[in-house]
Amino acid sequence: MDLVELVDSSHATGDVKFLRAKDELRAALAPMRREGSSIGLVPTMGYLHDGHLSLLRAARAECDLVVMSLFVNPTQFGPGEDLDRYPRDEERDLRLAAEAGVDIVYAPPVEDVYPEGFATQVEVGGGLTDVLDGDPARRGPGHFRGVTTVVAKLLNTVGPKVAYFGQKDAQQVAVIRRMVRDLDIPVRIEVLATVREADGLAMSSRNAYLDPGERERATALSRALRAAEATAGSEGLAAALATARAELRAAGIEPEYLEARDAENLNPVAESNGRPVLIAVAAQVGGARLIDNVLIQL
Ligand code: PAJ
Repeated sequence: MDLVELVDSSHATGDVKFLRAKDELRAALAPMRREGSSIGLVPTMGYLHDGHLSLLRAARAECDLVVMSLFVNPTQFGPGEDLDRYPRDEERDLRLAAEAGVDIVYAPPVEDVYPEGFATQVEVGGGLTDVLDGDPARRGPGHFRGVTTVVAKLLNTVGPKVAYFGQKDAQQVAVIRRMVRDLDIPVRIEVLATVREADGLAMSSRNAYLDPGERERATALSRALRAAEATAGSEGLAAALATARAELRAAGIEPEYLEARDAENLNPVAESNGRPVLIAVAAQVGGARLIDNVLIQL
């Protein structure tokens, strides 16, 4: 069944518009912009969970018109990564988006986002994209180049007053904030807290890769971060990282990284200096590469 028909024939979904064409999106947004309506954008790669929904609900509460983009962006996946198996369920996403009060779901085809001859990249420097996930030994700076290029395109296409992102991807937040500042993109970036499962696991579309045993082991990431947070204030960052590392080891998890960094410029921090500190972790747990973090104000 055609997705537009599906939406139109279902009472549960409200009257969300499902658009694949940039022209149609622009045409739908133009009258709203003329009226002075505030547009909120929530960029996603779909397979929605409560983390995404919290962004959609915030946008719904604050903006006149809510646009969710749904695009599994191939350029932010490295050669050996999970682009081909990244979970997708467009029908379900559309239903959940409608239930959250989204007005427009924009789901462009890859060839429209990157047409023949596409040759421009947005790259944030300043040591923000070659550390943590951007370290060449990990996902590499190409990952963030992919993210910033597609987010810049989405911001230009939609022209939102506010764009919503999750603290779950703390480095992505730091990189996007810097891009928006450096390129004078007229948008406010809103960042919402990480939404977690009852046992602490940060929600992620990639959690779908975990089998039951891995799912159980994966709780060690949030446990480690909570332990670090509890330790940091009294014993300092080095002790906090050691506590977290022990918690991971007890679950048989060797992290790709577990580091304390300045939350804004991502410089390493050894001692508290009054600025917010990010403790970030990445680890392969079975079939899933998971990331999580905690923001601490010492
Ligand atoms: P995706 O992983 O689908 O995430 C979309 C948004 O949801 C991001 O801002 C992400 O930080 C947020 N999010 C994911 N899990 C969350 C959680 N547990 N709690 C709160 N927010 C959460 O991030 C991307 O897509 C892409 O890189 C994108 C920005 C869309 C560019 O392609």
